[in-house]
Amino acid sequence: MSVDHQPGPAGSGERAFEHGATAVAHPNIALIKYWGKRDERLMIPYVDSLSLTLDVFPTTTTVRLSPGAPADSVTLDGSPAEGEPRRRVIAFLDLVRELAGRTEPAVVDTRNSVPTGAGLASSASGFAALALASAAAYGLDLDPTALSRLARRGSASASRSLFGGFAICHAGRGTGAAADLGSYAEPVSVPDFDPALVIALVDAGPKAVSSRAAMRRTVETSPLYRSWATSSEADLSQMRAALQRGDLDAVGEIAERNALGMHATMLAARPAVRYLSPATVAVLDGVLQLRADGVPAYATMDAGPNVKVLCHPADAARVAEAVRVATPGCSVVTARRGPGARLRTGAEQ
Ligand code: PMV
Repeated sequence: MSVDHQPGPAGSGERAFEHGATAVAHPNIALIKYWGKRDERLMIPYVDSLSLTLDVFPTTTTVRLSPGAPADSVTLDGSPAEGEPRRRVIAFLDLVRELAGRTEPAVVDTRNSVPTGAGLASSASGFAALALASAAAYGLDLDPTALSRLARRGSASASRSLFGGFAICHAGRGTGAAADLGSYAEPVSVPDFDPALVIALVDAGPKAVSSRAAMRRTVETSPLYRSWATSSEADLSQMRAALQRGDLDAVGEIAERNALGMHATMLAARPAVRYLSPATVAVLDGVLQLRADGVPAYATMDAGPNVKVLCHPADAARVAEAVRVATPGCSVVTARRGPGARLRTGAEQ
C-alpha cells in the first residue's frame, strides 16, 4: 500500500491480524492549537485545532496479543516503560479491550525517532500508531473517523496524526456520549499548498511540566484562557481560507499569533507555565530578522522550547541557516507534508 500523501488511514479492520499488528504514524504540528480539555476523561478539547502531519520522526508501534501473560508488557524505545507513560498505554489498551469485548493482555513495543516528551508531538504519533495497531490486533473494525475518536482518548492531538497533510480536530459540543461522538478528526483538502517546516531542536530533554498538567492549570487559573479560546475560532476560519488560497504569509501570520497567544495564556497561569527558553527567543528573533530581510518565515511552538518555522520550500535552506546562527549547536531538521498513519503489511512486519 502506498502511503505518500494518502488522505487518511486504512480502516483498522482492513485485514485480519492473527498475532498482532504494527502501525507507523508521523507527528503533526498544529497551525491552530488545541490547548485545554473540557472533559479530561474523554479527552475532549475546548477548541478546534488544525494541523499539518509531517514526513519526519515517525513512531512505529507493534501490539501482539499474549493470552497466557499475567499482564501487559510495554516497551518504549527498547526499555520497559515506567510510570505515567506505561499507565497511559495500559489505560488505552483497557479502552480498546472494552470496545472489542476482549480480555487478553498485550505486548506493546513502541519506537520513536524523536525524543519522547520534548514537545515534538511524540504523543501525537505515539497514540495514533497505538490506536491503529491495537484496534487491528484486537479485531476492532473502525473507520477512520472512529479511529480518530479512539486516538483522541490517548492524546487529542493524536487524532490528527491518523491523517496525512492537513487535518482538523473538532472539539464538538455537549457532554458525555454526545461529546465523544462530536469530537473527531478529519482531513482538510488543501491541494495547492505544500510548505516546508524547519524544526529547531533547541532542547531535546523532557519537559518540566507535562502538557496535560499545564493545560489543566491554564484552564483553571489563567485569566487569558477564555479570550484566547474565543480568538482561536476566528483564527481557524481565517486559516482555512488562507490555506485554500495557498497564502503562506497569511497562514504564517495566523499560526504565529495563535501559538504566541497560547503561550501567553500559560504565562498568565498561576503559577506560570513557561516552555519558551532563551534559545526559543533567539530563534524567534532570527525569524523576525528573516522577515525584515524579505524572507517569509513564521514560527510556531508547542508544549516545549522547540521552534518550527513555516516557510516556502525554496527558502528552507536559508531559514535553517538563520536558525543555526541564532542558536549555535542546535539541530535543525526540515520537514514537509507527510502521510497518514498506516498498518504495516505482513511482508514488512
Ligand atoms: O495532545 P497533547 O497532550 O500532546 O497536547 C499538545 C497540544 C499542543 O501540541 C501544544 C497543541 C496541538 O494542538 O498539538
